[in-house]
Amino acid sequence: MTRLAGKVAIVTGASKGIGAGIARGLGEAGAAVAVNYASSRTGAERVVAAIEAAGGRAIALQGDVSQRADVERMIAATIDAFGRLDIVVNNAAYFTFGPIEEISEAEFHRHFDTNVLGTILVTQAALPHLQPGASILNLSSAGLLTPTPLVTLYTATKAAIAQISGVWAKELGPRQIRVNVISPGSTETEGNRIGEMDEASRAFIIGKTALGRVGEPADIAPVAVFLASDEARWVTGTVMQVSGGFH
Ligand SMILES: NC(=O)c1ccc[n+]([C@@H]2O[C@H](COP(=O)([O-])OP(=O)(O)OC[C@H]3O[C@@H](n4cnc5c(N)ncnc54)[C@H](OP(=O)(O)O)[C@@H]3O)[C@@H](O)[C@H]2O)c1
Repeated sequence: MTRLAGKVAIVTGASKGIGAGIARGLGEAGAAVAVNYASSRTGAERVVAAIEAAGGRAIALQGDVSQRADVERMIAATIDAFGRLDIVVNNAAYFTFGPIEEISEAEFHRHFDTNVLGTILVTQAALPHLQPGASILNLSSAGLLTPTPLVTLYTATKAAIAQISGVWAKELGPRQIRVNVISPGSTETEGNRIGEMDEASRAFIIGKTALGRVGEPADIAPVAVFLASDEARWVTGTVMQVSGGFH
């Protein structure tokens, strides 16, 4: 497929899970892809190899999205490798769950540094390179529609990302840069091993999902490809629930 031919993408947290699925989808659609990882080099290299095996172009880039120097190095390496940047997918995230009483300042800062500050730093570093027609995709969560006990910090970061994206759609609209949000529902990934949960927990999740199953990264990727493509040229400031009707 060539919907994204000639375009260049960076996907943060693309060594596994939804980020890996989106990176592969963008690569299969013809984009050259910078595959960011924090610690899972092998995972990122596997994604690069899959994109290359399908005839695409990709590189793996290590970097912590919460560190400005890492982020600037990754964006510079993307430009060095591919000469431009058109698509930014802010997918990297950190999440742990627990009761209010156990929230520490260190965990608060780790969640917000990775999920919110990381999204801001990557977007800031990318912006000087983005031309009219560029697309920014930020990952939030369908979980915002249905508050879940024990998920304070993660929920707070994903709400912040959804709100920030609306601000950016307005701020960057005059430059013809589109900003949209993908909100996955419960999706089987390395970070969310639903298949290993007990039967009651799995049934609870599936019961909250209109289409009656758990999602997988391949369910998310085509929507990211669409939103990144010129077919979505009139779509900005949107929160797309890609969740099988999770509520
Ligand atoms: N899975 C779900 O059910 C679900 C539901 C709603 C929303 N989401 C959202 O979808 C996105 C992906 O979730 P997932 O389940 O696929 O996650 P995952 O399997 O846990 O993967 C997380 C990815 O983020 C990377 N990462 C973590 N901290 C990083 C940092 N500081 N700098 C750079 N990369 C970092 C990890 O890299 P390394 O492995 O290299 O460390 C990994 O590639 C997240 O934004 C999440 O909030 C997921």
